[in-house]
Amino acid sequence: MYMTIIVTGGAGFIGSNFVFYMLKKYSNYRIVCMDKLTYAGNLSTLESIMDNKNFRFVKADICDRSAVYKLFEEEKPDIVVNFAAESHVDRSIDNPQIFLQTNIIGTATLMDACRKHGIKRYHQVSTDEVYGDLPLERPDLFFTEKTPLHTSSPYSSSKAGADLLVLSYYRTYGLPVTVSRCSNNYGPYHFPEKLIPLTIVNALNDKPLPVYGKGLNVRDWLYVEDHCKAIDLIIHKGKVGEIYNIGGHNEMRNIDIVKIICKELNKPESLITYVTDRKGHDMRYAIDPTKIHSELGWFPETKFEQGIKKTIKWYLDNHQWWENIISGEYKSYYEKKFNIK
Ligand code: NAD
Ligand code: TYD
Repeated sequence: MYMTIIVTGGAGFIGSNFVFYMLKKYSNYRIVCMDKLTYAGNLSTLESIMDNKNFRFVKADICDRSAVYKLFEEEKPDIVVNFAAESHVDRSIDNPQIFLQTNIIGTATLMDACRKHGIKRYHQVSTDEVYGDLPLERPDLFFTEKTPLHTSSPYSSSKAGADLLVLSYYRTYGLPVTVSRCSNNYGPYHFPEKLIPLTIVNALNDKPLPVYGKGLNVRDWLYVEDHCKAIDLIIHKGKVGEIYNIGGHNEMRNIDIVKIICKELNKPESLITYVTDRKGHDMRYAIDPTKIHSELGWFPETKFEQGIKKTIKWYLDNHQWWENIISGEYKSYYEKKFNIK
């Protein structure tokens, strides 16, 4: 069956991986990427598919109602998958406003366009951070879809606000929505302000590897392609009005991740630099993926040991991609933030 899917935020990390995955898997789907190209969006990521006849790129802000409505008018999408967001917790602590704008108002604008034009599915890409954190001393606790929302940062609060809005559009207007809440992703095209790509890039440049606090915070890491596969399943087989948690039971401490990367790259652990902790820093995230396992048959396929090797190899093979980023606007942000030259 022919389908048109609007993918917002497709020039970012997970969105671009999703666009590649869908174009490869479905030769009869039209994929339209709408992206504002903020500091985190990178057109060079999409270079290889710009001439693909099944792909269109449109530079637009999801908060721009007339641009969004115009695109819906032109494309008449069957499905919308919303990845577009301000996504970095540290930036949300410095400047919450843009997070509220993009993550909440942008989501509402997209859903209003869906209501106006009719849609088979609106999918909201959310995060496990909406559940807040779990104590380190209770390894028996996990986030289920029924765990109350209990956010810590302006980022997670804006994502939780968007989730509530999405579910309200289902109940109030009958908009056919689904929501997925995934754990931390890693893989190719990950912007080098996040822990794993930052550590790889800095280690390659023999620069300090900043670890917040004592490095004991735990994240549940998932290879990005496994996330893309889960979203593909949800938009085709998931039940409307439902939330699906996505995660692979791969909890690791930050310090251990940084040490693994040092080992893989043959760099000394003396590069590790403990820096001031993040304000309100969540201790542990851990997903219970039982629902998506049992209802949709999704299981993660890439083990961390393979995934981190593939990721490191990608950064080694794609120097130009990240060198362009760290020499640009991001550089001054990064230098100011860590007081590192
Ligand atoms: P990212 O920051 O790498 O990419 C975000 C993309 O959205 C960029 O291309 C940016 O240009 C675009 N964008 C930002 N504001 C926009 C706007 N107003 N209009 C149009 N485009 C805009 O983020 P990511 O890591 O790929 O995350 C994608 C989604 O997945 C986000 O919604 C995030 O909350 C969610 N998520 C991320 C993770 C993770 O580990 N990275 C985990 C779970 C959920
Ligand atoms: P991050 O990649 O920003 O993802 P999130 O905050 O959404 O989980 O951070 C992952 C963890 O790594 C988090 O506990 C903060 C920590 N961290 C560092 O220790 N050093 C760093 O330089 C960064 C960016 C993050």
